[in-house]
Amino acid sequence: MELTEAIRQRRMVRSFAADPIDADLVERLLDDSLRGPTAGNTRGVAWVVLRGPDTAIYWEYATTAGWRSGSERYPGMSRAPVVALSLCSPTAYVERYGEPDKEGSGLGPSQHGDGTGSWPIPYWFGDAGCSIMLLLLGATAAGLGAAFLGNFRGEGELLDALGVPAGWRLFGAVLIGTPDGKDHPSESRGRRPTTGAGVVHRSRW
Ligand SMILES: Cc1cc2nc3c(=O)[nH]c(=O)nc-3n(C[C@H](O)[C@H](O)[C@H](O)COP(=O)(O)O)c2cc1C
Repeated sequence: MELTEAIRQRRMVRSFAADPIDADLVERLLDDSLRGPTAGNTRGVAWVVLRGPDTAIYWEYATTAGWRSGSERYPGMSRAPVVALSLCSPTAYVERYGEPDKEGSGLGPSQHGDGTGSWPIPYWFGDAGCSIMLLLLGATAAGLGAAFLGNFRGEGELLDALGVPAGWRLFGAVLIGTPDGKDHPSESRGRRPTTGAGVVHRSRW
C-alpha cells in the first residue's frame, strides 16, 4: 500500500476479531515503529507488548470495572489480540541533553529535581507519539486495524506489575488486530475535513 493511501485509510478501529495475528508481522511493525525521529537521537521510547490472555492486565489497571461493564465498546476493544504499551523515559532525554554536544541547551541534569522542570516541551511524549503513528500506519498498510488509547489511570500499578524499571512513563496503548466491522460509531466530532481549511495558515496566521 502506498504511504498516502495508508495515511488516508487509517482510522481508529475499536472492535476486533479475537483471532491472533501473525507474530512475525507484529515484530516487523514494532521494529518499523522505532525508525521514527527522536529528539537528540535519544531513542528514549520503548514498547511492552502484551498478546492474547496477557492483554487482560492492561484492561484491569488502565480501566475501571464500572467502565468495563457499561461501555458498549469494551467487548470489541478487549478482543484485540495485541496491546502494545507505549513507554518513554524522561530521564534518558535529560541525560542525553547533558552530553557535550547538547549541554548548551540547558536541558541536562539539574541539581534541582529530576531535570525535567527545565524542559519547555516534554520531547519524550512527542517521540512516543511519532512511534505510535508509525505503528498505526504500519498496521493499516498491513491490512490490520489499530487504535491508540490514551492513559490516565493505573499507570504506576500497571508498570510495576509488568516489571518496568522506575522512571519510565506510560503514554498509552496501541490495540492491534483484525477489524471485525462492529465498531460503535463515535458520537463526537465526525470526520476531519479533508482539506487544511482553517488550520493551515500560509505566510502568516
Ligand atoms: C493522545 C490521544 C489520546 C487518545 N485517547 C483515546 C482514548 O482514550 N480512547 C479512544 O477511543 N480514542 C482515543 N484517541 C483517538 C481519537 O479519538 C481519534 O484519533 C480521533 O477521534 C480521530 O479519529 P481517527 O483517528 O479515527 O481519525 C486518542 C488519540 C490521541 C492522539
